[in-house]
Amino acid sequence: MNLESLEKEILSLIEGEKNLVANLANISSSIFYSYPGLNWCGFYLWDETDQELILGPFQGRAACLRIKAGKGVCGTSYLKKETIKVDDVHEFPGHIACDSASESELVVPMIKNGKVLGVLDLDAPVKARFTDQDAKDFTRIMERVVKQLY
Ligand code: SME
Repeated sequence: MNLESLEKEILSLIEGEKNLVANLANISSSIFYSYPGLNWCGFYLWDETDQELILGPFQGRAACLRIKAGKGVCGTSYLKKETIKVDDVHEFPGHIACDSASESELVVPMIKNGKVLGVLDLDAPVKARFTDQDAKDFTRIMERVVKQLY
């Protein structure tokens, strides 16, 4: 899928608005309804006080509230500062199953000045939903989003 139009939609949605929660809420909705085949899409934000990821704006079923650095796909992406694509979540050691429907997952860190501010987490109810190109595209989209947001 060509994600250029999704990227344009996201960047125009957040243009001129500085409120983080409002922007992340609209981004999660935009991805959830434009990128087909997701059962969950949202953010976990790094909390400096508690030193863990905490659930942020999302679309989908209620999810785990807190994830420690290094735990699950999200905590691993946070620690490694890397986008992680998992074709089969059952094969990923330590995967955290928030929604039992999830079969594959893509997690993209949001990085500013070398620091991970949070992660974007996409879940799909089929195996290998995400391509390598999707991983590159969502990584680029989130780099641009972070420049505009923070
Ligand atoms: N599966 C994630 C946890 C978050 S939920 O999928 C919404 C993980 O392993 O980090």
